[in-house]
Amino acid sequence: MSTQSGLSQSFQSWARRDQVFDFLKPEVHPNIDMRHNMLLYLEGVNKNFDGFQAITDLNLYIKEGELRCIIGPNGAGKTTMMDIITGKTKPDSGSVWLGASLNLLNLNEAQIANAGVGRKFQKPTVIECLTVWQNLELAMAGTRGVWCTFTATMSGEQRDKLRSVLELIHLHTHASELAGNLSHGQKQWLEIGMLLMQNPKLLLIDEPVAGMTHQEMDRTSELLNSLAGKHSVVVVEHDMDFVRSIASHVTVLHQGHVLAEGTMDEVQANPQVKQVYLGE
Ligand SMILES: Nc1ncnc2c1ncn2[C@@H]1O[C@H](COP(=O)(O)OP(=O)(O)O)[C@@H](O)[C@H]1O
Ligand SMILES: [Mg+2]
Repeated sequence: MSTQSGLSQSFQSWARRDQVFDFLKPEVHPNIDMRHNMLLYLEGVNKNFDGFQAITDLNLYIKEGELRCIIGPNGAGKTTMMDIITGKTKPDSGSVWLGASLNLLNLNEAQIANAGVGRKFQKPTVIECLTVWQNLELAMAGTRGVWCTFTATMSGEQRDKLRSVLELIHLHTHASELAGNLSHGQKQWLEIGMLLMQNPKLLLIDEPVAGMTHQEMDRTSELLNSLAGKHSVVVVEHDMDFVRSIASHVTVLHQGHVLAEGTMDEVQANPQVKQVYLGE
């Protein structure tokens, strides 16, 4: 094979358009042992705050690529559960594993984030005086730091990835707009995009549609559905129509414990759920 055809072949393989979306496939994190097809295990988890039992013998199992909704009344322990997964709060007992071999209780918050767990809080935390593009660029940098981000040139692969995320979050026509000028919904999507720049295996999202218009909610539901399969996504949400629109599987938490699990229809028909949650 001549050098020229070798070069053109390697260019072709580099430029193949069907590979642009590679980052959307499940990322292989060397530390995560996916042999059992289960990404997250919480088993027998308990957490007591000064005599108040916030989490009681909690079991939760999330499969690879699954989209799961967690619902439950105020104080049910939803946020505490997320805090435990991300290492912000350490439980009193129980086990928390990512894959079959990574014990999250032995890791701190930064280590858990680096292992592939991304969390989106309710309030968007985009940097308003930077453009949409710059926010995503900064998110990709992770621990490299701000200065590095704006002085180093991005590789072609990194640019492709940034563009793909822009399209996925429907902000490709807003790349050079200041994040501060976006609507509330668009800021939420930008923040989800920023999490995606770090290739998380597991995304934890707290109340994504609070304050959104109906149109923005529909778009968010589409976005979360499109992430499923490539990432595992756990969404805590109060809006029932929204939960119905995104989730194949719903977990109802009550007093720090799983009260019911199943499809939206199944949990809504459950008499205990009706009693404690739907107020019937
Ligand atoms: N750091 C804390 N100290 C004391 N109590 C807490 C703390 N964090 C949460 N709680 C209590 O634990 C319970 C569960 O809270 P939370 O996880 O925020 O519920 P949810 O997100 O489902 O509304 C609540 O009664 C809350 O007051
Ligand atoms: Mg909460």
